[in-house]
Amino acid sequence: MRLTVIGTGYLGATHAACMAELGHEVLGVDIDPEKAAALGAGRVPFHEPGLPELIARHTGSGRLRFTTSFAQAGAFGEVHFVCVGTPQRADGGAADLSQVDAAFAALAAHAAPDALLVGKSTVPVGTAERLARTHDAEIAWNPEFLREGFAVEDTLRPDRLVFGVASQRAETVLRAVYAPVLAAGTPLVTADFPTAELVKTAANAFLATKISFINAMAEVCEAAGGDVRTLAEALGHDDRIGPKFLRAGVGFGGGCLPKDIRAFAHRAGELGVPLRLLREVDAINMRRRDRVVELARELCGGAVLGARVAVLGAAFKPGSDDIRDSPALAVAARLRLEGADVTVYDPVAADNARKAFPLLGYAATAEDALRGADLVLHLTEWPQFREIDPERAATLVARPRIVDGRGVLDADRWAAAGWRFRAPGRPAPA
Ligand code: UGA
Repeated sequence: MRLTVIGTGYLGATHAACMAELGHEVLGVDIDPEKAAALGAGRVPFHEPGLPELIARHTGSGRLRFTTSFAQAGAFGEVHFVCVGTPQRADGGAADLSQVDAAFAALAAHAAPDALLVGKSTVPVGTAERLARTHDAEIAWNPEFLREGFAVEDTLRPDRLVFGVASQRAETVLRAVYAPVLAAGTPLVTADFPTAELVKTAANAFLATKISFINAMAEVCEAAGGDVRTLAEALGHDDRIGPKFLRAGVGFGGGCLPKDIRAFAHRAGELGVPLRLLREVDAINMRRRDRVVELARELCGGAVLGARVAVLGAAFKPGSDDIRDSPALAVAARLRLEGADVTVYDPVAADNARKAFPLLGYAATAEDALRGADLVLHLTEWPQFREIDPERAATLVARPRIVDGRGVLDADRWAAAGWRFRAPGRPAPA
């Protein structure tokens, strides 16, 4: 089939490459000529494991091309996927739908009369119905659930497909697009527009709630002297709860969970449903950043003024160079504001971090960051940080003091190597 993908950020670039991998002819569309040109030449402007190879393979074979022209996209596509961003609006928690609205308007003006326009962006419930009323075109909603760092895997082998459709024809077209994925046994849920939109926001809200739940338990553990890591392990053995997304620490960040729960709470409020639960999920999450800052101050004897602080990690999570709403950088910036001399190391996100936070220092290696530090903060759990030898690290720093903001380091091992070790939700090792 001939598909277009409008918007070539994390979601769109991955979707375009994966659709080519499934055997379709794909045209990616972006209003940014530099991005379109880079992708067309097989270069991916962000870190996503496996994606550069896939883009290079299919731009090489000619099955995947990129353009800035909606006229070209309209003439080419039988099915158009809209993958543009829905950032948080500057004036509050609501989602900014200007890119979605512009993409659908441009497609409605240029697409063939029988083309199917498919939304994949995360939108407030009610958007698809509004677009279907506004434009004389057939619309479907097909939310995505990919995780950064696993985007290719999650697109080619998703846990489920969700088709929000208003006609049998739309469902038939989407079944044809995803035929190889469905043939592999992927569960398919077909739904009306509002339900399809809600599956996405509800899924992210649930994941955020699970993380904030364990972080709330971390607060209780701090007050009562318990250990949230052991608590999470024991909870996770219950099949109904499961061990995933129970890692307490500095909280969640990224381009999705934080803004999606705010947009969802805002939209629910408009609909007359007081989703206060999500406001609390957000508040607990933001308090965890404060808590890490507090632990940093405690270890420095009350204030970080003048302290040399090494921050391990800048990305919002490992496997990504995305620094949007990164807890690591939020904490680093706070400590800088309190007068610390902060040096950040991240294996892939340093360039992005430097552009956004030019007042922080940046080291080329983890060792360089540690050298002479009065305090170390472990804030993004890249696997290589777990490999750091605490004894060797102790010889590099000025004072062996560490906050494990991700709760994954072996507290006893660090303490045995002479480190003062603190982690949110966990007692200091004896
Ligand atoms: C999230 C969802 O997991 C995807 O299913 C969804 O498609 C995506 O948002 C989206 O809406 O596009 P992502 O933002 O890539 O994916 O990252 P996650 O793996 O969900 O992690 C989010 C944040 O939670 C990270 O900062 C991570 O460090 C944190 N986290 C995760 C914890 O603090 N504790 C945990 O136990 C798990």
